[in-house]
Amino acid sequence: MKLWGGRFTKPTNQLVDEYTASISFDQRLWRQDIVGSSAHVAMLGKCGILSMDEVRQIIAGLKKVKEKIEQKQVQFDIAHEDIHMNIEKLLIEEIGALGGKLHTGRSRNDQVALDMHLYLREKLMEIIELSMYLQQALLDQAQNHLETVMPGYTHLQRAQPVLFGYHLMAYVSMLQRDLERMQDSFKRVNILPLGAGALAGTTFPIDRQFVASMLQFDGIYQNSMDAVSDRDFIIEFLSNASLLMTHLSRLCEELVIWSSQEFSFIELDDAFCTGSSIMPQKKNPDVAELVRGKTGRVYGNLIGMLTVLKGLPLAYNKDMQEDKEGMFDTVETLHGALALLTPMISTMQVKTEQMRKAVTQDFSNATDLADYLVTKQIPFRQAHEIVGKAVLYCIERQKYLLDLTLEEFHGFSPLIDQDVYQALDIDAVVNARNVLGGTAKQQVEQQIQFYQQQVKGN
Ligand code: ARG
Repeated sequence: MKLWGGRFTKPTNQLVDEYTASISFDQRLWRQDIVGSSAHVAMLGKCGILSMDEVRQIIAGLKKVKEKIEQKQVQFDIAHEDIHMNIEKLLIEEIGALGGKLHTGRSRNDQVALDMHLYLREKLMEIIELSMYLQQALLDQAQNHLETVMPGYTHLQRAQPVLFGYHLMAYVSMLQRDLERMQDSFKRVNILPLGAGALAGTTFPIDRQFVASMLQFDGIYQNSMDAVSDRDFIIEFLSNASLLMTHLSRLCEELVIWSSQEFSFIELDDAFCTGSSIMPQKKNPDVAELVRGKTGRVYGNLIGMLTVLKGLPLAYNKDMQEDKEGMFDTVETLHGALALLTPMISTMQVKTEQMRKAVTQDFSNATDLADYLVTKQIPFRQAHEIVGKAVLYCIERQKYLLDLTLEEFHGFSPLIDQDVYQALDIDAVVNARNVLGGTAKQQVEQQIQFYQQQVKGN
């Protein structure tokens, strides 16, 4: 017998049951559902809508249902569609007809919204915490590499040397923005929809403030149509998650490149790599690749949900049941990525000599030669031209700038002196960028300090 069967003269077609049921995935919400129902029923007692004795029995019944679910003694049934009606049915089985009083002054529409708010609020905290662990792992590695010079790239062409610690700090900075976005969104997640009823409020003299404080919500939806039809908080989460995944994906792309034989800048720990079924020599960065790949489904979940919502009239529509799988999937995808990237970053071996070798065998100090000429009063544009010629001269002779003799340098500009060798030295080149946000060791130390402070504040 369906909980809503009264108006019907026939049983539902089996395919309809299967098509409309959400229990296979929304059973993840069972804890939130019981917590929400318990608060609701306590409020019904406080307001005199149910007797205290009834409240006690219903709460005891919900507790029993909770224990049975925990001990896997219940089987959810698609005939009862979703987690909300499954739990109500189990309650009625437990305590009889009295269980039917639980749904007084409530609709599944405000109930499901409540469960989603409770669920996401919990998951947001977990994701914020996991992101902070990753940030810390990156900060620690940055601290270890304040003297490790590597090529910095633009267009994936060697550009100017940077510290490896500096490169990692760019990701710490991105993650900080992600964390701030997630924290900010918490304000909009932590708002109570329960009490909205189906769409128009309820005829019972309920106390929403009481439920809000029991469940530690910071606010209450002021308009009930909005309360039951709002899924912005989910879209906002999916959007913040997409941006976070973009950052993780870019980091992973770099891990893949850096660990290739061609770059050979890092070696990922064996525990975080996999082998090939045919090629015995292979060690593949599968985890990094998968994080990069799974970014696609996180974007898909965002676009999917935006599309579900865009044409819906107020208030609740069954389409909104489609808010769940994408959100669960995104939460689980983020969990997996963050939980794995943190130890991967902490355990990666950095091949400092390889990185340094890469910078000494290229022209990434060319800008510095131009800057040097500027200090000798040559206009920058002219200096650029002179150095371009010098680079070409070197390429034709298979040399680098530091291989040129002073005489050769004089062929390009008589203003070049012995001190040019010091100016083009790789460590000097890095440390010369001693401006706020620059790659000089002193600046990177300051960045680490700045973000260490922010991480503490998160
Ligand atoms: N399973 C539904 C969902 O997830 C619960 C709300 C159903 N409300 C309704 N009026 N059919 O959206």
